[in-house]
Amino acid sequence: IKRVTTSALRDMKARGEKISMLTSYDFSMARAVDEAGIDVILVGDSAANVFAGYETTLPITLDNMIYHAAAVARGAKRAMVLADLPFGEYQGSTEKAYEAAVRMMKESGAHALKLEGGEEIIDNIKKIVQAGIPVCGHLGLTPQSIYKFGDFGVRAKEEAEAEKLKSDALALQEAGCFAIVLEKIPAKLAEEVSKSLYIPTVGIGAGNGCDGQVLVVNDMLGMTKDFKPKFLRQYANLYDTITNAASQYVADVKSQDYPNENEQY
Ligand code: KIV
Ligand code: NA
Repeated sequence: IKRVTTSALRDMKARGEKISMLTSYDFSMARAVDEAGIDVILVGDSAANVFAGYETTLPITLDNMIYHAAAVARGAKRAMVLADLPFGEYQGSTEKAYEAAVRMMKESGAHALKLEGGEEIIDNIKKIVQAGIPVCGHLGLTPQSIYKFGDFGVRAKEEAEAEKLKSDALALQEAGCFAIVLEKIPAKLAEEVSKSLYIPTVGIGAGNGCDGQVLVVNDMLGMTKDFKPKFLRQYANLYDTITNAASQYVADVKSQDYPNENEQY
């Protein structure tokens, strides 16, 4: 099987084929979504929320992210494995950002890294790209900045923030990013940005004008109870499936139905 590469993604944009991306945090999930034909598996720092139960993505560490990314990389045969660098590892000195990027690449087997932000981190992105590491940008609602925004609402509705997002997108392309995630911004703005770039955009809550789409796998599988933003399409109801299976198991153990004669040695 041929691995999905950054140039394959660029070609997809050029010929108008949409890019499919889902998150995963472990080997089993990565194997399943890889077999389904997903183009990119994002080892998102949303692991902090859906895997670890934190309210924000800020607490997850580089060691945590390397552990998740390595597990996903072992499960993905075709998909590109894209790993988030966590909060605090790349917003300061270029040296620290570079070292975090190199550690993630060496220790996890991921194929590319995603960093949140535009102009503010452009020198750090350039340094990482110069080292031969593919970087994906992330603009709009950048959850590592949640305490600056104050809430998880739609970003760049106002002119000034929309203008900054447009210039940040061009700066990320100029810095050598191979793609940009656009999170929770007006569809019209996302479409305009997508058309202004030769690198692909991948949207979440950013409408149909992006060059691809990404969802948190736990959300689209219906595993994250009570998280139902407007942009989310739920493809399964695994929370209820798991609860029903587990309660059936409880009942079977209590009633001594499980294990039966064929289920013992
Ligand atoms: O961590 C994550 O899951 C993400 C996506 C929402 C783009 O960054
Ligand atoms: Na993320």
